[in-house]
Order: sequence, then C-alpha cells, then structure tokens
Amino acid sequence: MSHDQLQPADAGDVRAAFTRRSLFRGAGALAAGSIVADAARSAAAAPSVRLEGALEIELSINGAAQKVKVEPRTTLLNALRNHCSPPLTGAKLVCDRGSCGACTVHVDGRPVYSCMTLAIDAVGKKVTTVEGLAKGGELTEVQRAICEHDGSMCGFCTPGFVMSITACLERKPDATLDEIKHACAGNLCRCGTYPHLFDAALAAGRALRAKGGK
Ligand code: FES
Ligand code: FES
Repeated sequence: MSHDQLQPADAGDVRAAFTRRSLFRGAGALAAGSIVADAARSAAAAPSVRLEGALEIELSINGAAQKVKVEPRTTLLNALRNHCSPPLTGAKLVCDRGSCGACTVHVDGRPVYSCMTLAIDAVGKKVTTVEGLAKGGELTEVQRAICEHDGSMCGFCTPGFVMSITACLERKPDATLDEIKHACAGNLCRCGTYPHLFDAALAAGRALRAKGGK
C-alpha cells in the first residue's frame, strides 16, 4: 500500500525505542512487503527497553495541542477515539491490524494507519484527522466530490478514503486515475464504492486545479 512510513521518534524519554513499538512503526504505517521487511529488521536491531504505566503526552491534533494520558502501547487510533476531549471518532477501528485503511489519518501530512501507529510516536508531529479538514463547516473539495458522486454507502471506509485522496491531491492535484488508485491501495471498501470514489477524486482534483492548486 502507499501510506508513508512514520519516521523514528526523536525527542523525550517516552520515545525511547522498544521492540513492540519498533515493529508497530514499520509494520503499522505501511503494508508493503519491503516496508514490512524493513520493520522486521529494525525490530530485531532495536534495544529492548521496557516502558510501563500511563504517561501524559501532548499531541498536536488538527492544529490544537491536546494532552492525553496513554500507555506506551496505546495506538494513535485509540488515543484519538478514547483519550481525546472531545473524542475524535472519524478514524474508524475496523481491522485493527493495518489492512483496511479505515483508520487513516495524516501525520506530518502523510497518510498512516493510526491503528498501527503508537500515540507516543506522534509526539512532536502534526496529526490531522478527518474532523480537521473542513474549515468553518465548509467541506473540502474531496469531501464535497465524494458526496456529489455518491461515493459512500455504509460510510465506514469513507473517512479513510477522504484522508488518502486528500493526501494524494495535496501532493499532486493533477493526479491521474492510476495515481489515485495507488494512493488508495491501502483502503478497502466492502460496499464496493471504488468507481464512485475514484470519479470523485478526479473531480476534486479538477476543482482544486481550477482554484489554483488546493
Ligand atoms: S483499522 Fe487500521 S487499517 Fe484497519
Ligand atoms: S461505503 Fe461501506 S465499506 Fe465503503
């Protein structure tokens, strides 16, 4: 899949490496075979440091600082949904194993699986959830296009697709159909809305280009 991999943490005691976290970092953020292989190698090389108990960390979520008390093993998805105030439930818990994309959020502008990213690994980074996209109640071009193209049925996968398509078009507003499909390769829709979602993404790209890029 095409979600970018989170980079190693670089600040604070709580960010010390430990084996499970290292495995999460690689295997969680991306499902592509080479990335998983890299994660396994880095897990094997990581020092085994034990962290226990809840820690208070500060996350930057949708442009605002948010203090949360989490265990080192707490995923970013869990932190968003269950430890933030108010809870941010846009990212969905579906497979909880990095295979469906329903939990996709942006970390420093890159789409990642939040179910396979540790909350402590997001310290010092900018987290954006689907709740953070619309400004002043106005939907983004991607959100609007998905509504207009009937790209949502049960809606469970929709926030993840919105985040993946948004990241793709932010990088490349003139993304081709193949590039959009590649960007969404880590997102599954059990209702089969793919053609509508891809039409919506192309329409959103056109709208963004007409507005001058975004
Ligand atoms: S819930 Fe995270 S990839 Fe499925
Ligand atoms: S709209 Fe139901 S899973 Fe995609």
